[in-house]
Amino acid sequence: MLQVAVIGSGTMGNGIAHVFAQHGFPVALIDISQPALDKALGTIGKNLDRQVTKGTLSEEDKTSTLGRITTYTSLPEGVAQADIVVEAATENVELKLNIFRELDAHAPAGAILASNTSSISITKIAAVTKRPAQVIGMHFMNPVPVMKLVEVIRGYATSDAVTAQVMDLSRQLGKTPTEVNDYPGFVANRILMPMINEAIITLFEGVAGVEEIDTVMKLGMAHPMGPLQLADFIGLDVCLAILRVLHEGLGNPKYAPCPLLVNMVQAGRLGVKSGEGFYAWT
Ligand code: CAA
Repeated sequence: MLQVAVIGSGTMGNGIAHVFAQHGFPVALIDISQPALDKALGTIGKNLDRQVTKGTLSEEDKTSTLGRITTYTSLPEGVAQADIVVEAATENVELKLNIFRELDAHAPAGAILASNTSSISITKIAAVTKRPAQVIGMHFMNPVPVMKLVEVIRGYATSDAVTAQVMDLSRQLGKTPTEVNDYPGFVANRILMPMINEAIITLFEGVAGVEEIDTVMKLGMAHPMGPLQLADFIGLDVCLAILRVLHEGLGNPKYAPCPLLVNMVQAGRLGVKSGEGFYAWT
């Protein structure tokens, strides 16, 4: 079994650790904060409990899944044995570049270095390492244990062999991988974020209210949740950051973030995580 290391124990990191461990892989879950790691283990336990309650996972499988996850606050120790590292730290370019410099220095020479970034260039991340052919995007969707897609992003130098290995690994997790090339927003967010931005513009221009917009898209288009509710779940700061990447990277004014989104982020209304976005979440 491949040894997996996951960097970052937030929403995406704990979901990624959960699915790897559930499918039999030993996982080193790494974060700078031990309380964050303890919280992540609690979250994974609760999400496994949902599966046990539904009857899709046995109590024994839950216990063995949790038993496969070891936590580390030291990156060099956590990645020392890794065959693949999946980085799921905060979506910040400088932070990610520093993490990849460290990963390159401490992960075994043959290890694949994957990033769960939702919009930062894989090519740019790969360029700070001495192994750009082994750097790839492995973009999971939230909630990771439920969503079937892994967007596999090939950087400019990513090798065919590494791409094939990551596609295969994603299938071993019960996911459907989709190979895409490294351009701003990849495919998922290049299409999702303009829809969310248009929903916000529709609200901003007074065409309809929050619930009306979401109801049209939920019941009219069979989306599981409306775009404004989804934006609250993703985080309005994350939506804004991705729209800026699209706007700057593709140079087309159609990606300009709605002023209402900018204002809400400046006001600290970030969605579920801050308690208020388009909806109140307290
Ligand atoms: N772990 C394990 N199971 C979970 C879970 C978790 N974290 N969260 C939900 N579930 C399970 C539930 O147990 C339930 O299972 P069953 O249907 O088998 O009973 C199922 O998922 C549905 O959950 P709920 O009944 O609680 O709620 P729901 O019907 O409203 O579905 C949802 C929740 C799956 C999140 C659904 O609302 C949905 O699909 N929302 C849209 C999600 C989406 O678009 N994600 C992509 C976001 S974009 C992104 O991630 C990338 C980016 O770069 C920004």
